Amino acid sequence: MAPSNTSIKLVRNIPSGTPTLDDFKIETIETPTKDSLKPDQVLVRTLYLSCDPYFRGRLTGTRDSYVASFAPGKPIEGLGVGIVEASTSSKFSEGDLVTGGSFLWETRHVLSESEITKVPSNTGISPANYLGVLGMPSFTAYVGLVSLCSPKAGETILVSAASGAVGQMVVQLAKARGLRVIGAAGSDDKVDFVKSLGADVVFNYKTCGSLQETVKKAAPQGIDIYFDNVGGELLDVALSSMKFNGRIAACGMISQYNATPETAYRIKNLVNIVPKKVSIFGFIVTDYYSKPDYKNFIDEVSASLQQGKVQYKLDEVTGLENAPQALLDLFEGKNFGKRVVKVTDTNQRL
Ligand SMILES: NC(=O)c1ccc[n+]([C@@H]2O[C@H](COP(=O)([O-])OP(=O)(O)OC[C@H]3O[C@@H](n4cnc5c(N)ncnc54)[C@H](OP(=O)(O)O)[C@@H]3O)[C@@H](O)[C@H]2O)c1
Repeated sequence: MAPSNTSIKLVRNIPSGTPTLDDFKIETIETPTKDSLKPDQVLVRTLYLSCDPYFRGRLTGTRDSYVASFAPGKPIEGLGVGIVEASTSSKFSEGDLVTGGSFLWETRHVLSESEITKVPSNTGISPANYLGVLGMPSFTAYVGLVSLCSPKAGETILVSAASGAVGQMVVQLAKARGLRVIGAAGSDDKVDFVKSLGADVVFNYKTCGSLQETVKKAAPQGIDIYFDNVGGELLDVALSSMKFNGRIAACGMISQYNATPETAYRIKNLVNIVPKKVSIFGFIVTDYYSKPDYKNFIDEVSASLQQGKVQYKLDEVTGLENAPQALLDLFEGKNFGKRVVKVTDTNQRL
């Protein structure tokens, strides 16, 4: 009997507002077999799937984006790690550990060889790390901070969503470069964690009172770099707190992803950009994988990991059927660290 194959599909596009579990459906579908493979394809068993805030943009149905929207009736897809169970590709063999950005939210599925790359197995680290510390969020931190904002020792950086997948790495890359780091996070546990990474001042933006006064107190001389993961009010406060020649890594604006035209936050302090000569760098990490920055990132972070100089918090949810909730949690701050879904066990066999 073929093993059961679970598939998470989108029911409808959600142009704005807050998605719910009803927008997803869980189906049991036929498991692909080795015989169904076309040339240069692999059958992959999914180990881990990545939940990322950028999925919100892919739920909208808009064509006006750097990445295609999810389509109703089709499975959700994104970054994943899995094991090759069968292959018609000369580049991949049974047992290879692979990663890529086109993993379907299914237990087993077929990918073409161009959609995956091999990653080292039996290294003693969880394969989930290829979605975190050695993966896209961590590289995003590197691009936004190192490649774009040119940090210098002694400068002050403010990082929002500082305990998250991207933020926790920004904090550590900035400390390693001698910056004074101020972190913002949404719970006291998260604040403690960001402090444990070496941040100099960390505040709970939900309970601190006036954001303007809190940032002013943490950085009386102002901010050189703002690494923006959230947009909204904190971006507004940062804009009014930037020093001359300040830089903003416009990485993400999660506070606005579920906003409607009526609830969207209206920025008031953009006027500071010109007289203070502030640079704002909007960027998408996928543009940087083909640049030298990627090798530089892998070299630095692999070495730091081996030397125990970097920590990285994964937040694992078990079971593909729980993936929609695991994703929706991101927009309420219910994840603590890099949110991944564990689909099957590393040692599980057909
Ligand atoms: N430009 C790129 O190429 C790129 C690549 C990857 C990620 N990103 C962006 O980077 C940002 C962080 O992504 P991530 O993967 O590291 O996510 P994450 O921080 O692991 O998870 C999202 C976090 O955002 C915070 N949040 C959620 N709703 C919020 C709200 N209404 N107001 C303020 N904070 C809120 C929560 O943390 P708290 O509990 O601390 O509020 C939540 O835990 C996102 O905006 C994402 O879109 C951009």
